[in-house]
Amino acid sequence: MVPTWTLSLLLLTGLVTKGLSIPLADKEAWNYVEVREGAHMFWWLYYADSQSAGYTELPLVMWLQGGPGGSGSGFGNFEEIGPLNRDLEPRKQSWVQAASVLFVDNPVGTGFSYTDGPDGFATDVATVASDMLVLLKHFFSEKTDFQSIPFYIFSESYGGKMAAAISLELSNAIAQGTVKCNFAGVALGDSWISPLDSVMTWGPYLYTTSLLDDNGLAAVGSAAEMVKQAVEQQQFLKATELWSMTETVVEQYTNGVNFYNILTQDPDEKVRSSVGEDFIALQARRHIRPLHSQSLSQLMNGPIRKKLGIIPQNVTWGGQAEDVFSHMAGDFMRPVVDVVNQLLIAGVNVTVYNGQLDLIVDTIGQELWVKQLKWGGLPGFNKLTWRPLDDPIAPGVTGAFYKTYKNFAFYWILRAGHMIPSDQGPMALQMMKMITQQA
Ligand SMILES: *[C@@H]1O[C@H](CO)[C@@H](O)[C@H](O)[C@H]1NC(C)=O
Ligand SMILES: *[C@@H]1O[C@H](CO)[C@@H](O)[C@H](O)[C@H]1NC(C)=O
Repeated sequence: MVPTWTLSLLLLTGLVTKGLSIPLADKEAWNYVEVREGAHMFWWLYYADSQSAGYTELPLVMWLQGGPGGSGSGFGNFEEIGPLNRDLEPRKQSWVQAASVLFVDNPVGTGFSYTDGPDGFATDVATVASDMLVLLKHFFSEKTDFQSIPFYIFSESYGGKMAAAISLELSNAIAQGTVKCNFAGVALGDSWISPLDSVMTWGPYLYTTSLLDDNGLAAVGSAAEMVKQAVEQQQFLKATELWSMTETVVEQYTNGVNFYNILTQDPDEKVRSSVGEDFIALQARRHIRPLHSQSLSQLMNGPIRKKLGIIPQNVTWGGQAEDVFSHMAGDFMRPVVDVVNQLLIAGVNVTVYNGQLDLIVDTIGQELWVKQLKWGGLPGFNKLTWRPLDDPIAPGVTGAFYKTYKNFAFYWILRAGHMIPSDQGPMALQMMKMITQQA
């Protein structure tokens, strides 16, 4: 509680208006960009709001959500790192205190982004990247004050796969002079870089954490082996279907483990597949709907769309999310390890960060693809021993380990699942500051 006298003093000095206007209308901007004919992409920028530095002295962070079909403007913003939480209360660990944050609803059809017709959906990560380049070109030519500010891309899950591809396109575009931007690095959080390495390690990970018995380990292993064969034969749509079946096997033998955090299980959210259910519909139920909870949808399609004022009448936040996923299904299981290689060789700063309790993108799977990198710095990186980081709110308690060598870094975030900022907000904020060279 603020004592009355302080409040009136603050009112007199005009300071209080800052905290009370929710959201801070003068510190935000948003718009649509038509990235292809009939394909409209939505972005929402929060200017950094720090006591000690103006926004021009702080970095710009773009946040990309997973799915594909998950919305950064909704989930990332109100459930993870934005200035307000889902109840529109200030978030203590908001990233806006240390960076300007740009949420983009991508691919087209995600969140408030939309397409006028079925041709507008992207079907591969190359289109996702070229669409984003159109958006970034618009953004940096409209917001010229951001051209020289260090620009970082942070991502989660499938967002990491998109972030890798976008980063490569962006660094080429900057070299060719077609985008003016001070690109400073990319951070890949619990990222779908090598889908097969994730699937192949589910069994061992669950077995060592007492979530599978020997029979379960064998069953999950055989299901995963089928995914492997499909990927090796480059049958990627089939691989996506078999990935879905492997998840069903995992759910059966673990009594419905939560793929996003093995230590939390919500009985209401357990997915039960039904015989003959279309696998795309099943995967949308498993991985798209949790990003569109009823309360988040009500917020986005209620007060938020009203505040934004530019959302077309027939566009619903999340209305095309499942179509986004189904159009990308044939590309979903393709790895992008080589894209990360190219980024590292090009000298782009790349960080991988992963939550200890994440199953869908477990840390051992990440270790496996990192060891496949052809980047010349890898032996040097491997030789280093990691360093512990204290949990910012519990000094003396390890919150993470990290290792950095040349332009590559890895953060192991403890007690976090797939959505690291939701699970470990203070640690996530601290890591963001370290990656953006503020700590
Ligand atoms: C919205 O309405 C316009 C005009 O009728 C139409 O062209 C467009 O396809 C609709 N968009 C969506 C997302 O339904
Ligand atoms: C990459 O990170 C290193 C620190 O690890 C830093 O010195 C360098 O300036 C960064 N590069 C860019 C382009 O920001």
